[in-house]
Amino acid sequence: MNYRHAFHAGNFADCMKHALLVALLRGLTRKPAPFFVLETHAGAGHYDLASEAALRGNEAAGGIMRLLDRSCGTRAPVDHTSAGEAASTVPDPALAAAIDRPPAGDTASAEPDPGLAAVVDRPPAGDAAFAAPDPALAEYLSLVDRSGLYPGSPELIRALLRPDDRLACCELHPDEHTALRRLFRDDRQVAVHRRDGWEALKALLPPVQKRGLVFIDPPYENPDEFRHLADGLALARSRFPTGVLAAWYPIKHRAPVRAFFAGLRPRDVIAAELLLRAPLDPTRLNGCGLLVVNPPYQFEQLAETILRALLPLLGNGEAGEAATVTRLADE
Ligand SMILES: C[S@@+](CC[C@H](N)C(=O)[O-])C[C@H]1O[C@@H](n2cnc3c(N)ncnc32)[C@H](O)[C@@H]1O
Repeated sequence: MNYRHAFHAGNFADCMKHALLVALLRGLTRKPAPFFVLETHAGAGHYDLASEAALRGNEAAGGIMRLLDRSCGTRAPVDHTSAGEAASTVPDPALAAAIDRPPAGDTASAEPDPGLAAVVDRPPAGDAAFAAPDPALAEYLSLVDRSGLYPGSPELIRALLRPDDRLACCELHPDEHTALRRLFRDDRQVAVHRRDGWEALKALLPPVQKRGLVFIDPPYENPDEFRHLADGLALARSRFPTGVLAAWYPIKHRAPVRAFFAGLRPRDVIAAELLLRAPLDPTRLNGCGLLVVNPPYQFEQLAETILRALLPLLGNGEAGEAATVTRLADE
């Protein structure tokens, strides 16, 4: 296990994954009944963007730093000098206000969230870079700590739990596990396990709450990871048929993704993808996707709005860039 997320924290893939994760959780909080979240590959919980690891590849410069710069003229205090990072510093008052807001409260409602409804009803954002940011990103950005500590998925999920909701995180790497345990020390709503996330799909599902989210974010270190993912999704579906399942995947080139889709049972499955360029060079992370089984009400439209808002902020206008949400078709 060589993968350490600190080297990649806050990159464009994290922004895409985490903005969609926040929208999924908002979907779950629409109903008052408590929910359970299982995160199979949790990481350390949050990441210091000024650490040596984070600065080595400076990936956050093309991700969250750029998003904050371009969308609200707000920069976390991390030095980054790479070319192409020159950003608009014109603050967007609406988003700046959203960022200054405390994390969303605990109140649940069975009614559609009026904020989300407004976003869903609006036409997608235009293509121009540096355009005013879409409010669809506001909640995610409001959860990003501008002091330079980037929240990983466990911290984002935790911020959106209501008092009766629960989170279980699995992490195998000893250092990441220790950091995560420390982060959630004394938190009775969060259980941190040092266990194999794939095995946890069997051990921890179905949850007593009978509703919730399984979030799967493996490191794709070994070539079998897509196969593990397809098997894991099938297992999670059989044990928790009503659960929302979300799995992040890299897009380097198309062939592995096509093969992965072909091995899935496509019923009620969508793929939300952000491509920074055509996926032709298999040595580069050209884009990424989030596969969602049983997406919450209106998530499909909301995901499209979020991706269309992200693309002009994170992309460089390269050939083949795209933001798409597609529904996998039944055979
Ligand atoms: C992509 S990172 C997770 C990032 C995190 N989900 C986030 O968005 O902040 C993947 C993590 O999975 C851990 N990992 C790898 N194999 C695992 C396994 N079989 N079970 C649990 N964790 C695993 C790695 O140590 C790494 O921290």
